Amino acid sequence: METRIYTKNNQDIAACAKIVKEGGLIAFPTETVYGLGANALLPDSVRNIYAAKGRPSDNPLIVHVADKAQISLIAAHIPDKAQAVIDEFMPGPVTVVLPKKQIVPDVVTGGLNTVAVRMPANEIALRFISEAGCPVCAPSANTSGKPSPTCARHVYDDLNGKIPGIIDGGDCEVGVESTVIDFTTDTPRLLRAGGMELERLEKVIGKVEVVKNSKVALCPGMKYKHYSPTAEVFVVPVGEGMAERITAAYDELSKLAKPVVIAMQGTANALSGVDCWSVGDDLSGYAHNLFSFLRRADELSYTHIICEGVPEEGMGASVANRLEKASGGKTL
Ligand code: TXA
Ligand code: MG
Repeated sequence: METRIYTKNNQDIAACAKIVKEGGLIAFPTETVYGLGANALLPDSVRNIYAAKGRPSDNPLIVHVADKAQISLIAAHIPDKAQAVIDEFMPGPVTVVLPKKQIVPDVVTGGLNTVAVRMPANEIALRFISEAGCPVCAPSANTSGKPSPTCARHVYDDLNGKIPGIIDGGDCEVGVESTVIDFTTDTPRLLRAGGMELERLEKVIGKVEVVKNSKVALCPGMKYKHYSPTAEVFVVPVGEGMAERITAAYDELSKLAKPVVIAMQGTANALSGVDCWSVGDDLSGYAHNLFSFLRRADELSYTHIICEGVPEEGMGASVANRLEKASGGKTL
């Protein structure tokens, strides 16, 4: 199958919407990462997503809508706090898990009686979903286990030949996936830290339960290996003397291998004689660049990636989570 690259113009969006409506797969941009979309109401099409990604079929998919009114077509009930999140933060990088309606096929939810719903804050995604006229379920558009794609070329590198098309919408603004909150328990529960800071959500809905170090994966997807480039990733934990510790690790590794450092601008300024990529001045910059830097390290044949660790606050929570997954918990 030839994978065609489509633009965001109306004619191309209409062609892609038609493909999805009729059962094909299309990768499309969102503000977080690129998604691989199928018509959520066609079980056979949804199954093709798992095949294209090499994804375990017990890992449920997020259903994307273009209009808040669509949520009540797939959710059996919307608790008040979930409604408050929908009112306040959608469209945006947040996903709500709600009890599902029967119309949502089991293959979308991995057999769970809940459904994850999100309305992306991306004009191209909204036009595409709206034109398709159906809810569009979509995981990140990467090969399972690889870093999520933040531009069309990343999707092409992973899925060329496996899907009919990709809508090129440029770079994703946020760069990490949405924050996933479960509203089917008494107190809302964080299932995945992501592009919407937990602190902002809590200002509107009060305390959200955060389960740390749980032996059981809260979100079915979180038990799988994730975000792994071929290069070996290490995290340098937050603390005093970051630049000195990074330099020492770099010097040691570069005796035998080809390491690269990923760091905040402030730390990068304090390094010398170190091959380093700066993510910019803040944690949003780190989130924005992380996945694309992990992929770039592989493209340029680096063997090791040394990442500056970050505090688990604000956007730091999602960056720290992705670093932990990419490194398999290995620190230096
Ligand atoms: O930003 C995002 O969320 C991107 C873009 C494309 O929207 N999508 C994304 O999808 O990251 P995916 O499939 O890579 O991650 C979805 C996560 C998985 O960890 C999955 O287990 C969880 O959401 N999930 C989906 N449905 C669920 C449900 N009913 N209950 C609990 N967790 C669910
Ligand atoms: Mg994913």
